Amino acid sequence: MRTHRIAAIPADGIGKEVIPAGLRVLEALAERSGDFRLDVTDFPWGTDYYRETGKMMAEDGLETLKGFDAIFFGAVGDQHVPDDITLWGLRLRICQGFDQYANIRPTRVLPGLTSPLRAVQPGDIDWVIVRENSEGEYAGHGGRAHRGHPEEVATETAIFTRAGVTRIMKTAFEIAAKRPRRKLTVVTKSNAQKHGMVFWDEVAAEVARDYPGVTWEKELVDAMAARMVQKPASIDTVVATNLHADILSDLAGALAGSLGVAPTANLDPSRRFPSMFEPIHGSAFDIAGKGVANPVATFWTAAMMLEHIGEVPAAARLMAAMERVCADGVMTADVGGTANTEQVTEAVIAAIRGAND
Ligand code: IPM
Ligand code: MG
Repeated sequence: MRTHRIAAIPADGIGKEVIPAGLRVLEALAERSGDFRLDVTDFPWGTDYYRETGKMMAEDGLETLKGFDAIFFGAVGDQHVPDDITLWGLRLRICQGFDQYANIRPTRVLPGLTSPLRAVQPGDIDWVIVRENSEGEYAGHGGRAHRGHPEEVATETAIFTRAGVTRIMKTAFEIAAKRPRRKLTVVTKSNAQKHGMVFWDEVAAEVARDYPGVTWEKELVDAMAARMVQKPASIDTVVATNLHADILSDLAGALAGSLGVAPTANLDPSRRFPSMFEPIHGSAFDIAGKGVANPVATFWTAAMMLEHIGEVPAAARLMAAMERVCADGVMTADVGGTANTEQVTEAVIAAIRGAND
């Protein structure tokens, strides 16, 4: 019997609803598979914890998390505490502390969902966006001087290191190489940004030599946004900087019918540290506590986590169960259904138990 240690951090808002739902589904999968178990520890970190202790997570939190095989994360953000405190105090602290430099964002139109693109055919949108997650425009490098004076200045410097760009390119080529089309689009803005982005393109060309089986091309980020709408089927795997992929992945989620079902993995591909898996949607205060949050993004995220820890058949079983439930129309209101979180979760568990694969 294989055992995997999972740290669950539901944190804020609907994270407290979707993570327990995800854990129930994972439990059902472990039972159904019979050859692995999950040893789950819940952590109460987040904004409520901050209100009590003045900290978003325990002081030695990273040290504690190091012993886990993966982190299953809900959402962070609160109406009454500034985002830079909540985000940098928990989610980004984990991402940066564990050097989770690759943010992986798959996009597909799930059965039962409708893309806002009129002419899109099933399979046209089947993308993986690989987002550089440790440097670039979000490196936190810069500063403010002469505050409040007319000559006040602020800089926000994008950082591109050879180590950082090389490792994200390798990750992207590896992912592209394992997908059926073996195709990678390297996104930049190298016509206008002549230092960092030209460097990004050069490193891409260097890394590409090790992957002769992958067809790759360059695309400017603005043209990429248009292409995602106009020629979605021409895209497969995409690699882009922290900022560019942040924007393109929201566009991708919307084109796939809802950001509410989009998953993400913050990976340390070198496996020195645990990786972190989370739904993209955030804490959604408007619906928090009502039991109506869409758990599908969390289930998809859980499938990515299972793949990462080596439970590939269980991941496939979860995706199949979730897709069947969506196809049957058991969906929450954000994607046009009438079910609540509990009903979708129960339907997915029933599909897992009933599957005869
Ligand atoms: C995302 C989010 C976050 C990010 C925000 C909340 C900082 O937009 O996951 O895309 O850009 O990392
Ligand atoms: Mg974003």
